[in-house]
Amino acid sequence: MKTEHIARTFVEYFEERGHRRVTGSTLLPPPGDPVLFTTSGMHPLTPYLEGRPHPDGRRLVNVQRCLRTTDLEEVGDATHLTVFEMLGTWSLGDYEGPESLDWGYGLLTEGLGVDPGLLHATVFGGDDRTGPDEASLELWQRRGVPVERTVRDNWWSNGPTGPCGPDSEIFLWSGDTPPRSTPTRDDRWVEVWNHVMMRHRRLDDGSLVPLPQRNIDTGLGLERLASLLQGKRSVYECDVFDPWRRLVPPLWPLDEPSLRVTYDHLRSAVVVIGDGVRPGNTGQGYVLRRLVRRVLTVLWREDPTRTLQDLPTELIEHTLDHFRQDVDPGDVRGTLLDEERRFVRLLERGRRVLARPRFRRPLEEDDLRYLHDTHGLPRDLVMSLRGGRVIDSPTKG
Ligand code: ALA
Repeated sequence: MKTEHIARTFVEYFEERGHRRVTGSTLLPPPGDPVLFTTSGMHPLTPYLEGRPHPDGRRLVNVQRCLRTTDLEEVGDATHLTVFEMLGTWSLGDYEGPESLDWGYGLLTEGLGVDPGLLHATVFGGDDRTGPDEASLELWQRRGVPVERTVRDNWWSNGPTGPCGPDSEIFLWSGDTPPRSTPTRDDRWVEVWNHVMMRHRRLDDGSLVPLPQRNIDTGLGLERLASLLQGKRSVYECDVFDPWRRLVPPLWPLDEPSLRVTYDHLRSAVVVIGDGVRPGNTGQGYVLRRLVRRVLTVLWREDPTRTLQDLPTELIEHTLDHFRQDVDPGDVRGTLLDEERRFVRLLERGRRVLARPRFRRPLEEDDLRYLHDTHGLPRDLVMSLRGGRVIDSPTKG
C-alpha cells in the first residue's frame, strides 16, 4: 500500500464522517509565532483550538508537513525523520475522545487492513491535577485492545505554554514474534497515532486553565505507518525513499546509518529551502545550515572529494513534487552548492587558524570565544576539527 494511497484513504474516511479537508501550511509558522517550524498538524490551527470559529466548521482533516529538530539525534533510527508528514483530524469543540479513538480503530482495521491483534493503546492514568482518562480506557476495553496507563507519556503539548491535554496513543506491533509486553517496556511497539483531548491551556506560571471548548487533536505519522503497512523495518524503506535508495548508494557508498542521515537531512534541506528558508547563523537558517553541514561531514568522512554537485536532480524534483512545492529545482541545488562552498572555505580557514602556535594546546573558553568572534569559527566546528571528526576539505566544489 503506497504512502499516497494511505493519505487518500485517511482523508476520505474522515470526509465521509463530516470533516472538511483544510490545506496544510508550509513549514514556516506565521510571523510572531514563538516556534521556528511547524512541528505538528495542530500548530497552524492553534487560534481555532483556542476558540476562534474556523471558516470550514468544527470537523477538520489535513495532511501537514512538519519538522522536528528535537528528534535530530534520533534521526537514523527506524522511526524518526526530521521532516515528515502528519495526517491530522480535529474536533473543534464538537465530538469527544471515544468517538475519535473509535474512528481511529475503524480506519486502521477496516480501512487499512491492520490486524486488530497487532494494536496496543496507552491512556492517561491521572496525576494530582487531572483525573485519569476513563472514557478512553473504556473505549479500548470495549474494542478488546490492550491498554497501558502512563502519566508523562500520555500528556501532550506543543510547547511549554498553550493548548495541551491528556492523550491516548495507538501503537502497532513491529516485531517478528507474536505481540508481547507493552509500549513502555518493548520498543517493538511503534507509536503511530496520537489522539489528544485538548481541553487545557498551560499558562506562563505552569498552571492549567480550561480552554473555551473541548477539542480533539490527532496526528498520525505517515511515513511511519506506511513503513509498517509495507512490512518494512524502517521509515527509510517505505516507498517515499525508493528513489533515494536507488540513486544514492551507487554514488556515495556509505554504511546504513550514514545513508539514513544523508537521505533524511538532504530531503529535509530540500523541503526547507522549498519553503523559502536560506542558510544562516540564526533561527530557521541555522537549522538548515546544520542539516547541510552534517550531511557534508558524513560524506567527507571517508572521501573528501564527494560533493553535492553530484546529487541527482531527480531527488530534488521528487521531493519538491511530493511536498507539492512549486519551486525551481535549479534554485534549490544552487542554495545547497553555495552552502557547500561556504563550508569548504570555513573549514580551510579553521585549519589555518588552528595551526597557529597559539592554538597548539588545549583550547580554553576564551580561545573558543575569540575563534568565534574574530574568525567566525563556530564552537562545534572548532571542536570537530580538533577532534578530527571533520577531515580533509574536499578537492572538488
Ligand atoms: N498534536 C499531536 C501530536 O503531534 C496529535 O502528537
